[in-house]
Amino acid sequence: MIVILDFGSQYSELIARRIRETQVYSEVLSYRTTPEQIRQLSPKGIILSGGPSSVYDERAPHCDPEIWNLGIPILGVCYGMQLMVQQLGGSVERAECGEYGKAALFIDDPTDLLTNVEDGTTMWMSHGDSVTAMPEGFELLAHTENTPCAAIAHHERKLYGVQFHPEVVHSLGGQALIRNFVYHICECQPTWTTAAFVEETIREIRAKVGDKRVLLALSGGVDSSTLAFLLHRAIGDQLTCMFIDQGFMRKYEPERLVKLFQEQFHIPVEYINARERFLERIKGVTDPEEKRKRIGHEFIRVFEEESKRLGPFDYLAQGTLYPDVIESADTNVDPQTGERVAVKIKSHHNVGGLPKDLRFKLVEPLRKLFKDEVRKVGRSIGLPEEIVNRHPFPGPGLAIRILGEVTAEKLDILRDADLIVRQEVNRSGTYSMFWQAFAVLLPIRSVGVMGDQRTYAYPIVLRFVSSEDGMTADWSRAPYDLLETISNRIVNEVRGVNRVVYDITSKPPGTIEWE
Ligand code: XMP
Repeated sequence: MIVILDFGSQYSELIARRIRETQVYSEVLSYRTTPEQIRQLSPKGIILSGGPSSVYDERAPHCDPEIWNLGIPILGVCYGMQLMVQQLGGSVERAECGEYGKAALFIDDPTDLLTNVEDGTTMWMSHGDSVTAMPEGFELLAHTENTPCAAIAHHERKLYGVQFHPEVVHSLGGQALIRNFVYHICECQPTWTTAAFVEETIREIRAKVGDKRVLLALSGGVDSSTLAFLLHRAIGDQLTCMFIDQGFMRKYEPERLVKLFQEQFHIPVEYINARERFLERIKGVTDPEEKRKRIGHEFIRVFEEESKRLGPFDYLAQGTLYPDVIESADTNVDPQTGERVAVKIKSHHNVGGLPKDLRFKLVEPLRKLFKDEVRKVGRSIGLPEEIVNRHPFPGPGLAIRILGEVTAEKLDILRDADLIVRQEVNRSGTYSMFWQAFAVLLPIRSVGVMGDQRTYAYPIVLRFVSSEDGMTADWSRAPYDLLETISNRIVNEVRGVNRVVYDITSKPPGTIEWE
């Protein structure tokens, strides 16, 4: 394992992912982690991340200097390198001109850390301070036009520093450098593989759960589906998968999901048909926030009733992923047992918490994984691509894609229009071009003409966006002929719709969903 000490860089997680891409496990820890805690983890190497501070700031984060003496190879990146230099007796100063963006790296020592990194390769820089004097015993590995000490090493103590960011994609020689560090310097073995993860996780689940019962709320996404599979392999019928159909899913999805699990995976699913009660609960509601709130509360209520009916359960399985773990660190930990407890249901994290008497202990087998790793595991265990690569779908589902009041009639219209969107996007082979591609139904009507008949019907909005994480998004430049086919099919095949429009608003100022 390689430990990353995080000094507040926006790239710490990215470093972990790059290491894992070399099939070596890596974890991000706080810079406050003590040398003793590090020793207990027995990492083969340590990486000190970048960070927004200057090492001379009064409140700059410092690690315990004892880590230099652990005898474990260390690579400092940007701020991490400057800290290493400062603590070991070299000097760091405000550079005359900072260096931001791409820079050509000129190699002074092509062995060791920079083996197979091409002279003159592009590396990505982002720093205002620079190393002006190396600590004793260090040697220069590389420089750039503006940065005399761009890479340094104390070969004997296996301490390394780079001023650039090898983890970002713009650093062309970055992955080669990371491989050198991981394999040649730290002497790691490539053991972080999907197969090894599945095997080890199954062992861990068994050890944790013993003969107790586990409840899993299945949503049909890749996380809960992968989770169901792993748990079922580990504990068989001690697992109960509960699927609450609130009636706001896409056409055929509830049926497909249940069939897939029962027939293909032989995992029984408790299918809860709650369609009518959800619809009843939001009858007449037009305010988007009120709608979400009611759906969320109803979900908790159904969950509570059904888990009591099917239970008791000792554990709730939750699809927590590694980025959630890094962010939430020690929140939601039971102070008595030290175990993480569920106070909220993740897929509906925007609603109130679970009632106090329903606070399950958690089993979170995906908590070490990044999303792309969950997809790999999902694929390896035979989940179909339509689940593995599924676009994000909001918890309240189609109810927030029908503006204003949700009725059974409008749900049918939107489901049919949405199905056409999905079919045509799939058929055109553009599915992966979009972060999301879906239909929205507006509560207004406009005039049209079909045959010789005047029509007065609803418009459908097509919302296709590209995004990295859903926080910001751009409207997608979808091919015109795709839009044309979708539009033609919707107005011809979906009764009640006579117009299709395309949303060309980015986020911000718009949001991805319309409610
Ligand atoms: P917005 O509309 O805020 O959406 O730009 C950003 C991303 O979040 C999804 N989304 C939700 N996901 N429960 C969810 O699980 C919700 O209530 C919810 N609302 C929005 C949305 O689909 C997009 O991917």
